[in-house]
Amino acid sequence: MSAMIVPLMRDKEIDKTINFTSLLKSMKILVATEKPFAKEAVDGIREIAEGAGHTVALLEKYTDKAQLLEAVADADALIIRSDKVTPEVIDAAKELKIVVRAGAGYDNVDLAAASARGIVVMNTPGQNSNAVAELALGMMIYMARNRFTPGTGSELQGKTLAIHAYGNVGRLVGVKGKALGMNVIAFDPFITDAAVFERDGVRKVDSVAELYASADYLSLHIPATAETKKSIGYDLAMSMPKGAAIVNTARKEVIDEEGLMRAMTEREDLKYVTDIAPEAAEAFAEKFGKRFFATPKKQGAETGEANVNAGLAAARQIVDYFATGNERFRVNK
Ligand code: 3PG
Repeated sequence: MSAMIVPLMRDKEIDKTINFTSLLKSMKILVATEKPFAKEAVDGIREIAEGAGHTVALLEKYTDKAQLLEAVADADALIIRSDKVTPEVIDAAKELKIVVRAGAGYDNVDLAAASARGIVVMNTPGQNSNAVAELALGMMIYMARNRFTPGTGSELQGKTLAIHAYGNVGRLVGVKGKALGMNVIAFDPFITDAAVFERDGVRKVDSVAELYASADYLSLHIPATAETKKSIGYDLAMSMPKGAAIVNTARKEVIDEEGLMRAMTEREDLKYVTDIAPEAAEAFAEKFGKRFFATPKKQGAETGEANVNAGLAAARQIVDYFATGNERFRVNK
């Protein structure tokens, strides 16, 4: 028995499902990113994984899911971004033990399929939040200043910034909004303690209806779930004050596109700015001109800093899982 293994064997927190063989084995970690990490992040992932005796394979900018199916075949661990891990991918990954979504939202991973195979799924909460929060504020300024075209714009100072869901990103948007002199309010169905908001100088509101009815800028930070999909549409948009903008750095699926389009048609003052192009992006652009903007490709987390934070956290979580069975950031049962 190697000296390195002895202390691990004594650790009471070792998950009983990790057997001794897996503790000794070098694992293959596949980094599969259609939208690649910055080189610095990939180098850091390698350093962490190889330093723990594992190997790293890289599949970047793939254009066909067949490439992912092939690459994942002998991978023990998988690091992804918004890459889709479908039942087909799980089925092709015969050796897979853990998937880490380097980022916050894990709606791209079929949790049921992973759980059915006993595969652990984790995310890296908070690691890319600052990048997303900065983009949300940037998008507000961009819209306030006529998308940087000539003409009189407006300022964020004094406007009401309404934050829908006060998690890692929502909170940072709130704090930054306060620094810009905005009146910040927030709603989060899972946070009942007003002190959580008050410590940031943010006022808690008690309903989605109140949030939208008060919002000059509505910043979306809800995940895409069965409950939230298509939940933002005509009624909420119509309730917003004159000149209001919905800012989406969350997920396109939470928008009822038909309903929002109808509201923006009836109300020529409403704006929609999003980091995730809607299905009907062309129609939005054609109908609403400067009142609509979508980034060409989701770029909320596209900073070197966020790539390094999330990528390295993912690598550390995998190494730790294989060494000790630590499941702290597990999101499936
Ligand atoms: C997230 O959920 O962390 C963000 O949407 C970032 O996604 P990305 O890694 O695909 O840029």
